[in-house]
Amino acid sequence: MKLIQWYPGHMAKTKRLIKERLKLVDVVYELLDARAPISSQNPMIREITSNKPRIILLNKADLANKQAVDKWIAYFEAQGLKAIAINAMHGLNVNKIVGLSKELMKEKFERNAKRGINVRPIRAMILGIPNVGKSTLINQLVKKRATKVGDVAGITKHLQTIRIHDELELLDTPGILWPKFEDQDIARKLVLIGSLKDSIVAMDDVVVYGMKFLINHYKEAFEARYDITADSEDILSIFDAIGKRRGCLKKGGVVDYDKVIDIFIHDFRNQMFGKIMLDRVDDDV
Ligand code: G4P
Repeated sequence: MKLIQWYPGHMAKTKRLIKERLKLVDVVYELLDARAPISSQNPMIREITSNKPRIILLNKADLANKQAVDKWIAYFEAQGLKAIAINAMHGLNVNKIVGLSKELMKEKFERNAKRGINVRPIRAMILGIPNVGKSTLINQLVKKRATKVGDVAGITKHLQTIRIHDELELLDTPGILWPKFEDQDIARKLVLIGSLKDSIVAMDDVVVYGMKFLINHYKEAFEARYDITADSEDILSIFDAIGKRRGCLKKGGVVDYDKVIDIFIHDFRNQMFGKIMLDRVDDDV
């Protein structure tokens, strides 16, 4: 069974649009979910950003395990990329983005200045999958200090830039990329963190995956939450045990599995099992 449908037509159009916009910018901010930096990354980004300098922003760091996120930062840095953990909602590290961008562009701008080319603000663009926090980050940057500076001169009518800093402008429309769905586990992880809509997937499948993942990697937290002993080979018994513990029973005392699904999803998304990392550097993600 295919968990998610794939729309190549839509993707081709989005890719074209983003490529057009990329011509206007100096640096790309690739926004990823700190809990799942690989699953929330679109592999197409490398191809379409080609030689553009790129900064990896691991967002929602408040929901992720700090040590694990630090390992991801080292992982991206080993690829020659700049990477930082941020919390777009509350602003953690958001003020470091300008400095990093300036570092990235320093050489080029100095070269240009020597050739007599006017130094202008760096122009940046945010790229990321839906729900990763693109609008929240734009708002946070705007809140810090910003004025709209109008249409990008002579290029397009509907794209605006926002002056974030004397030396940095941001395209006010982020590039929305869809995640890669070739691997169904990626889709399952993105549903668990709320990046993909529940309505497009079979939630029982996602919950079974989520429970097995927790039993394999965070067994104690999972068992403690429901006061059960869990065996990943016997998920049905786990559904029954949780249902009974939580009184999710239909007429005749039969466990209401839909309610168990809702409880698990709610618990997962509200960090009731702790700061769960769905992609881990040490695993073969
Ligand atoms: P998008 O533009 O990339 O689609 O994402 P958007 O900014 O709309 O953010 C999606 C959800 O993620 C929002 O929750 C937002 O508040 C939350 N979010 C963004 N950044 C952070 C962060 O650093 N930490 C945490 N904990 N949450 C963050 P929402 O409005 O409640 O939407 P939803 O959860 O109902 O989808």
